Amino acid sequence: MPKHIAIIMDGNGRWAKQKGMLRAFGHENGTKAVRQTVETCAELGVDHLTLYAFSTENWKRPKLEVDTLMKLLVSSLKKEINTLLDNKIKLNAIGDLTSLPKKVYKELQEVIALTKDNTHMDLTLALSYGSREELLSAVKEISIKVKNNIISTENIDESVLNAHLYTQNLPDVDLLIRTSGEQRISNFLLWQIAYAELYFTQVLWPDFTKQHLCEAIIEYQKRERRFGKTSEQIS
Ligand code: FPP
Repeated sequence: MPKHIAIIMDGNGRWAKQKGMLRAFGHENGTKAVRQTVETCAELGVDHLTLYAFSTENWKRPKLEVDTLMKLLVSSLKKEINTLLDNKIKLNAIGDLTSLPKKVYKELQEVIALTKDNTHMDLTLALSYGSREELLSAVKEISIKVKNNIISTENIDESVLNAHLYTQNLPDVDLLIRTSGEQRISNFLLWQIAYAELYFTQVLWPDFTKQHLCEAIIEYQKRERRFGKTSEQIS
């Protein structure tokens, strides 16, 4: 079982368009796929699930759509608190959280606090998240520490950089899934997916079910992860 699954939930807009509906309808239905995915991961014993819910680039979308997404986040957080508590899921968030509307930030912090002692699974929402921005802010923090003699340049290694990322408490991603047929990473967890298995599916996010998730996991289980070694060394 992959320990850490990360998902780029894509295709809400196209799903709605196919049905002759507004994009907001796609996002609303996307929340149902979020719920099913979270529950399935908890059931299967996945330790960490990270969802790309809103990128730094998504702020450039029309204001109405951004507002809809923010409202959906607040209502989903309110609605799903019991799902999180029942499944002993700890909520976490990564990204430039201070740029979120106050209401979203407040609700997020409340749910994070309410679920902080849960140990069955970590659910991390990437919100106003961009991997390049994350790496830049880590570099800035480290350079300040070098300047103040808290750390020396020779001692900067992968673990130091890791410890300055938003994902400092998470292991590397094992399986990265992207829905909707797009085959790109879109500034998501660039450092953390160095050795992840990538899985792309044509399924649009609102249609993504437990079965699709299981198919992705089965495909992952068939892959040979060599981490630079030879096949013989692995076996
Ligand atoms: C991508 O589809 C999806 C998003 C930008 C937002 C994802 C948000 C949700 C699934 C709902 C709320 C989330 C949570 C965690 C409760 P798109 O709009 O880019 O679709 P398109 O590429 O077809 O236009």
